[in-house]
Amino acid sequence: MKQAFFITGTDTGVGKTYIACKLIRDYVAQGYKVVGMKPVSAGTVLADSDWVNEDVLQLEKAGNVIVSRELINPYSFTAPIAPHIAAKNEGIKIKIELIQQAFEALVTMADIVIVEGAGGFLVPLNNQQTTADLVAALNIPIILVVGMKLGCINHALLTVEAIKARQLTLHGWVANQLAPSMDAFEENIATITQKIHMNCLAIYPYKR
Ligand SMILES: Nc1ncnc2c1ncn2[C@@H]1O[C@H](COP(=O)(O)OP(=O)(O)O)[C@@H](O)[C@H]1O
Ligand SMILES: [Mg+2]
Repeated sequence: MKQAFFITGTDTGVGKTYIACKLIRDYVAQGYKVVGMKPVSAGTVLADSDWVNEDVLQLEKAGNVIVSRELINPYSFTAPIAPHIAAKNEGIKIKIELIQQAFEALVTMADIVIVEGAGGFLVPLNNQQTTADLVAALNIPIILVVGMKLGCINHALLTVEAIKARQLTLHGWVANQLAPSMDAFEENIATITQKIHMNCLAIYPYKR
């Protein structure tokens, strides 16, 4: 089996990495060769004498295929700011073709590639292109992580509209519980389900 998914979210900090890692571990447990990819990251920490993005570390840990960091994370910027600004500050232009080449290489090495976007769906990558253009180039189905908090209905509907406007494939959406409790949690899920005409693939409870 060769399969890939693009994990996008209603915002940054909504659980894309958390769910990407869970998905990766689930597939690993089923016996597949699985690798996570974070094409563009902004913000690094020092780990084993290398400056690396924390999401990249987590994705690497979850997967079971050893590949070079250049393939998993072709663009890594130091500052934890919007990627196209971080890139500009470092004198680099993010090229979707380069990401595509890295992705194709990963596809040859693994059964399943889970790609995590930076931030939300329309995050710019350079002056002309956004994350949506990257998804179009990779041509893989999207899983939308909805971070369950006040405002998430609007964010979910906006994201789905942006996906549909580009004729990209929404595989499904998941609800990620970001806090121990949320008022009208079930009603929020019901509303999103009804408005986007798509059942929730999974509800991930808040984990202490
Ligand atoms: N279901 C959950 N239960 C508890 N903590 C969560 C859950 N989902 C995400 N988190 C925490 O919320 C923070 C943001 O999640 P993360 O996956 O890094 O978001 P994103 O990748 O969208 O920026 C992290 O500290 C993560 O561990
Ligand atoms: Mg992340």
